[in-house]
Amino acid sequence: MIGILDSTLREGEQTPGVLFSREQRVKIARLLSDANIAMIETGHPVVSDDILNSIKDIVELKNSGIIKSEIVAHSRAVNSDIDVAASLNVDRIAIFYGISDLHLRHKTHKSREEALNIIYNSIHYARSYGIKVRFTAEDASRTDINFLRDVIKTAISAGADRISIADTLGILTPEKTRYIFNNINDIKNAEYDFHGHNDLGMAVANSLTAFESGATIIHTTVNGLGERVGITPTQVLGTLLKYHYNLDVVNLGSLRTLSGIVEKYSNVKMPLNEPVTGDNAFIHKSGVHVNGIINNPETYEFMSPEIFGIKRNFTIDKYSGKHALIEKLNKLNLKIDDDGISYILNEIKNSNKIYSDNDIISMANHFLIGN
Ligand code: COA
Ligand code: ZN
Repeated sequence: MIGILDSTLREGEQTPGVLFSREQRVKIARLLSDANIAMIETGHPVVSDDILNSIKDIVELKNSGIIKSEIVAHSRAVNSDIDVAASLNVDRIAIFYGISDLHLRHKTHKSREEALNIIYNSIHYARSYGIKVRFTAEDASRTDINFLRDVIKTAISAGADRISIADTLGILTPEKTRYIFNNINDIKNAEYDFHGHNDLGMAVANSLTAFESGATIIHTTVNGLGERVGITPTQVLGTLLKYHYNLDVVNLGSLRTLSGIVEKYSNVKMPLNEPVTGDNAFIHKSGVHVNGIINNPETYEFMSPEIFGIKRNFTIDKYSGKHALIEKLNKLNLKIDDDGISYILNEIKNSNKIYSDNDIISMANHFLIGN
């Protein structure tokens, strides 16, 4: 299976300043499932009762067939965390453990040998509940590759069927991402997830490379929310996989709604120029571009906005040409002669202003044919 694990509810709520209510979390889970997302990471239940209760609600919806996605709960490599996650009857427990020397030395104060034991024992313990386990190699991208291999083999031998390679600090490049996968792909009996942070703006590129290098589940959040500056945005990765590989990992028609709801619930405002779902994603400006769009939208649109449930548009200002102005007048049902068009275009060129439809209507009024 190739798919997205959407972690808006877990990683996304780790965005500074963001908290979802129980109802909002359930609503987001329903929308993600309706959008055909393969896996939903619902949260780390020991963090709070509120999160635990929302996971209960989501599992209930899964049991009644309303939610179809695989339900994942997060857990430290600690038995008491695992007990709580297991009690919720989720489909999968995702156990994470920081494995770089930095994390071992300064966070958990464990040797590599001790870490391997902790990883083995916690996965084995979770598997005794009969639940599927993903092991997340936290800070994998800063981990000695030979130790990463030992960790993966240990996790698989304890019963994990998925291993998440986490670029926890977002320091990878596509080339380095490919290097990691090329050095672990020979290990059998598990599939890989990739979890890419965006600290250096590389999350999307690294995630696509991870997919191209063998990862079968890519972690994303709606609007790219997450710890610090977040992770790969669901809308961008889903669209990329459709564009380049014709893969349907998310219903593209749901992305605008998902983005808008998560923007509202998180109160993290999306920039106009956010790829795919930003307000400007299918708005054109320059005369040459609008002329191309009028003749054939494929000249300046990578995919049709209708696929995303969005209407294309164009703006009128000094960057506009006559084709754009004529198209605008036609759309507004305003018929004026060539002199009128030249006059209006000249006015527009000699002002530094953005023209609304009403501005165009009032200018055109003087030149209407038949007036
Ligand atoms: N597995 C096992 N232990 C881990 C771990 C892991 N993956 N990661 C960190 N730890 C340990 C640390 O070494 C530290 O142990 P110590 O208390 O013996 O020093 C402890 O877990 C983390 O410290 P702290 O958060 O202060 O402990 P806490 O017991 O008060 O709270 C949580 C633990 C998980 C309930 C709390 O941190 C929380 O609500 N976190 C939000 C979720 C989160 O941090 N997610 C990270 C996802 S990458
Ligand atoms: Zn993360």
